[in-house]
Amino acid sequence: MDKTTSIHGMWSSRLMFILAATGSAVGLGNIWRFPYMTSDNGGGAFVLVYLACIAIVGLPILFAEVLIGRHGRMSPINTLRGLVRDSGKSRGWVGIGWIGIVAGILILSFYSVVAGWTLHYAWLYLKQLLGGAHITDPGATFTELLASPFELTFWHALFMLLTVLVVAMGVEKGLERAVRFLMPALFVLLLALVAYGVTTGYMGQAMAFLFKPDWSEIDGNVFLRAMGQAFFSLSLGMCAMMTYGAYLPREGVSIPRVGIAVALTDTTVALLAGMAIFPIVLSFGLDPAGGGPGLIFTSLPLAFEAMSIGAVYGLLFFGLLSVAAWTSSISLLEPATAFMVEKFGIKRRKLAALSMAGLCWALGLLSVLSLNVWSGVRIFDRDIMGFIELIANDLMLPLGGLLIALFTGWVLNRTVLREQLSEMPEWLFNAWRWLLRVVAPLLVLVVLVRALL
Ligand code: PHE
Repeated sequence: MDKTTSIHGMWSSRLMFILAATGSAVGLGNIWRFPYMTSDNGGGAFVLVYLACIAIVGLPILFAEVLIGRHGRMSPINTLRGLVRDSGKSRGWVGIGWIGIVAGILILSFYSVVAGWTLHYAWLYLKQLLGGAHITDPGATFTELLASPFELTFWHALFMLLTVLVVAMGVEKGLERAVRFLMPALFVLLLALVAYGVTTGYMGQAMAFLFKPDWSEIDGNVFLRAMGQAFFSLSLGMCAMMTYGAYLPREGVSIPRVGIAVALTDTTVALLAGMAIFPIVLSFGLDPAGGGPGLIFTSLPLAFEAMSIGAVYGLLFFGLLSVAAWTSSISLLEPATAFMVEKFGIKRRKLAALSMAGLCWALGLLSVLSLNVWSGVRIFDRDIMGFIELIANDLMLPLGGLLIALFTGWVLNRTVLREQLSEMPEWLFNAWRWLLRVVAPLLVLVVLVRALL
């Protein structure tokens, strides 16, 4: 072990890794899911629990994933196989890799459907710019989209195609330009929307909703959702960061530093999205609570319609959001693809990527149909898409993270860890290790158990 390169290729620089990992973290999770989760789970209290989960649970596990990847240099399953072989530990730990790959496939299946919505909205605004109809009743427009299995499947397929294109070529090539220029553009656009929010006069109220906790809103379920959101947003618990870590050069790259940079950017984008959306929601007299998965699609178009060049904003916003979703979905597909490549041979990369994407696409049809034809089907009080989201996102990711924490904290040899984190001062390294050994696993366990009982 301890290879210096991966057979799947390497990031050309430290910056490239930061871009790729930030590209993975920042996506629909920040801009679509965070606002609607906040809206559905009572506002401020949810946000504070989410932030605490990022800092106490997410960040230490982020370091752990990247470190394991950089040490093993293979797809998660084979990296873990190598690690347990070298250390003579139980093969059961390889299950982390399997959980990750299955969770990734399940998540990508609905992620791509939602990313399809954003593509559709970008298209609607493009048409509007070219003289087409305006979105005057966003609620109706959204309902109309969800009612059409054909439209949904088309955009879902298109998005999956874009994703597989990059993964089939090898991740680095396609990614660099997308992340380096387009992600900052999205950031600027969000800032502009926050500024717009200030002009509505509702920023104060929005901030109160976002940051003033009402602890009576909190129950076991809210904790579960906040923790699931923290994992989802940081792309943790399913070995995406582990896979990206496998392509990270050893020289001159401090894992804690890049990890903190990624987590800070990710959290900032989520909070900005909240600060952009809630003033708009409030100023149009909508209820900030209970917005559901349609929240950004039913609220933002109201603001775009009120602006003088709203269609340009709409096109840019949904176009760039699609790009952000794209750089995330690439990282959802890569772990399974890398594993298939290792199993069936390096020359089969295109085939490996295509078959995995095909599987995700087909599974995605379940989500598509759950929005219309099968909308009556209920599993544990959720529709099919909500159920897949619950299992993969809120249960499998924390479970994967819990196991990664325990594995890194208790099973991996101290010298292996120290070697990967050589830049860390001793006290910080020890604190990190105890967070992984005790604090993070306990918190995750308590939340999982409380929510399940
Ligand atoms: N973090 C991504 C987002 O916020 C989603 C994702 C989850 C990507 C898990 C990879 C792994 O949109």
